Amino acid sequence: MKLCIALDNPSREENLKLANEIKEFSKDIWLKVGFRSFIRDGREFIDELKNMGYNIFLDLKLYDIPNTMADAAEEIAKMDIDMFNVHASASKRAMKEVMQRLSKFKKRPLVLAVTALTSFTNEEFKKIYGEDIDKKAVEFAKDAYEAGLDGVVCSVWESLKIKEYTSNDFLTLTPGIRPFGESAGDQKRVANLNEAKKNAVDFIVVGRPVYKAEKPKEIIKKIFKEIK
Ligand code: C5P
Repeated sequence: MKLCIALDNPSREENLKLANEIKEFSKDIWLKVGFRSFIRDGREFIDELKNMGYNIFLDLKLYDIPNTMADAAEEIAKMDIDMFNVHASASKRAMKEVMQRLSKFKKRPLVLAVTALTSFTNEEFKKIYGEDIDKKAVEFAKDAYEAGLDGVVCSVWESLKIKEYTSNDFLTLTPGIRPFGESAGDQKRVANLNEAKKNAVDFIVVGRPVYKAEKPKEIIKKIFKEIK
C-alpha cells in the first residue's frame, strides 16, 4: 500500500514547508496536488516538488466532453507528473478517448477514474446518479477498466468489490483515510489504516490528518510502520 499526501495547505509556502519537512521519505511518498495548489501555484511548483524526488498525483478530476478531456489529458502527459484523474461519469467513451490520445506517449502517467466522491452520503449520490453508491461505483469502475484506465478513486468500502469485478491489478486509490481514527471533517465514507489494508487498497490519500498535524513527520512514520 502506498501513501499519498494531499497538499491542500492555504499557501504555497506552507505546502513547500511540509514537502521539505518530509523530504527524507520523498521516494516512498506521493504528493497529491489538487485544485487549490495547481490554480495558485501552477506547473512550476510541480516541477519543484518533482525535483525533490516526489511522485506527483495531479488531482484535477477532468470532466468535460470527450475531445476536451483528451486535449487536457495530452497537456497533462507532457508535464512531468506520475498520475492524474478523470471523472468516470464523463462516460466510457470519454475515458476511451483519453486513453487513445495518451497511447502516443512513450511514458504516460497512470490514469484513474473517480467513481464516487468520498464526501457523498448515499442519499446525495442517489439524487444525482439514480443508484446506490456501492452498485454505481462498481459500474463506473467496470467502464474505466474496459476503457483501459489503470484504476479508480473510490472509498475503502468499495475497493474489494471493484477488484472482484475488474482485476486484482486494477488500482484503487482511496481518500477519506483517517489513519488512527481522527475526525472525518466533511468526509462521509472514511476508514482507518487497518480497514484500508483489509480491503486491498493500493494507494491511501491522507490530507488533513497529516498537513494539519503539529508534527507531520511523526504521523507519517507511524503510518509507514502500519502499512509497510
Ligand atoms: O483532508 P482529507 O484527508 O479529507 O483530504 C482528502 C483529499 O482527497 C482532498 O484533497 C480531496 O479533494 C481528495 N479527494 C476526496 N475524494 C475523492 C477524490 C479526491 O476526498 N473522491
